[in-house]
Amino acid sequence: MVTINANYDKRPSTYLFAEIARRTKAHQATHPDAKIMRLGIGNVSGSNAIAPTVLAGLKRGAELCGSTSYSGYGDEQGDTRLREAIAQSYIKHGVVINSKEVFVSDGAKCDVANIQSLFGLENVVAIQDPAYPVYVDTNILSGRDNIVYMPCTKENGFFPDLPKQKVDLIYLCSPNNPTGAVGTKRQIKKVVDFANDTEAVIIFDAAYSSYIRDIGSPQDRLPRTIYEVPGAEKCAIEVQSFSKSAGTTGVRLGWSVVPMDLLGGKLNAMWNRRSTTFFNGASCIAQEGGLAALTEQGQQECQKMINYYMGTADVLNQGFRKKGFEVASGGDNAPYLWVKTPGNMNSWDFFDKMLDEAKVVITPGVGFGPSGQGYFRVSAFGTRENAEAALKSIQENLKI
Ligand code: MLT
Repeated sequence: MVTINANYDKRPSTYLFAEIARRTKAHQATHPDAKIMRLGIGNVSGSNAIAPTVLAGLKRGAELCGSTSYSGYGDEQGDTRLREAIAQSYIKHGVVINSKEVFVSDGAKCDVANIQSLFGLENVVAIQDPAYPVYVDTNILSGRDNIVYMPCTKENGFFPDLPKQKVDLIYLCSPNNPTGAVGTKRQIKKVVDFANDTEAVIIFDAAYSSYIRDIGSPQDRLPRTIYEVPGAEKCAIEVQSFSKSAGTTGVRLGWSVVPMDLLGGKLNAMWNRRSTTFFNGASCIAQEGGLAALTEQGQQECQKMINYYMGTADVLNQGFRKKGFEVASGGDNAPYLWVKTPGNMNSWDFFDKMLDEAKVVITPGVGFGPSGQGYFRVSAFGTRENAEAALKSIQENLKI
């Protein structure tokens, strides 16, 4: 008789954002006239979400599929032109990446979920708490449940202290999802030095790096990539996304950098083996969109879009403060705000209250880990009108 992967019983039966969608749908069903406003998932939508140049690239990709130059399957690691363009895009950060270190994928979520398969199940995994739930879920579902939480609290400025014990894998996300906190070069260097000293590997999630507005001080920059930190090429894999920087959440496109200097190229060779075996490459249409996003015109338009979302983050920041909330972190260099629940209310109770009274969907902080209890996350993705309408409703209807 077949046996099943019993690790699935070790986690809640639904994924965080699926649970939020379920509760929202249930509320809508019992309140059919309610106009629900979403500040929950970091999703883009609508006709302006994708910049014109990126859209033109996607259309070109679709047309190529109907032309004589259509060649079916592409390279599993990604179109060489896109791998080269991505490698080139690091130069503005003073970082040299070889295109063979770049692997194009169908999104950063898949990469952060799958990358753990390169590592032994006995490894001890250090994960920021709170964190994007995919890190913990995928490790546990894969049978690696020796997890060390690294609390990110008000006391440590939402950047984790180094683990006190030996760990093998370290997940770091900056700008952070969900807290919006950004590690400085000095802070990230401490983790890099720790990893190099202890022979650990860092999985660095940089999906929100294009939202960093401040340069930081000359002595202590806010790095856009972990490879700005000396020594990172020897210990870190970086995962990146077009979803948030080019508005392609539904198109699905991202990449990982697996340096040749990491374990003497062993992990690069293993990720290459995995990509060619478990994956047939990202959609050729999506990759044309990615190429367009990385052109000068594409970058300018994407920056305009990022500025728009960050403008919305400012509006949300002011609006929540005006209502008396404590915005503990985020919103300045990230599209997320990390906010205290009123009266230290339980995160899920507050989620229900917000939906009931204001008809606004937020993300309960505890869904990102135990240290998220008593917090909620607000997303600045979506239209300005949606954010303004949500704030108005909160101001008028939420009883706190
Ligand atoms: C989030 O809301 O945390 C993200 O949008 C989810 C994702 O990127 O998968």
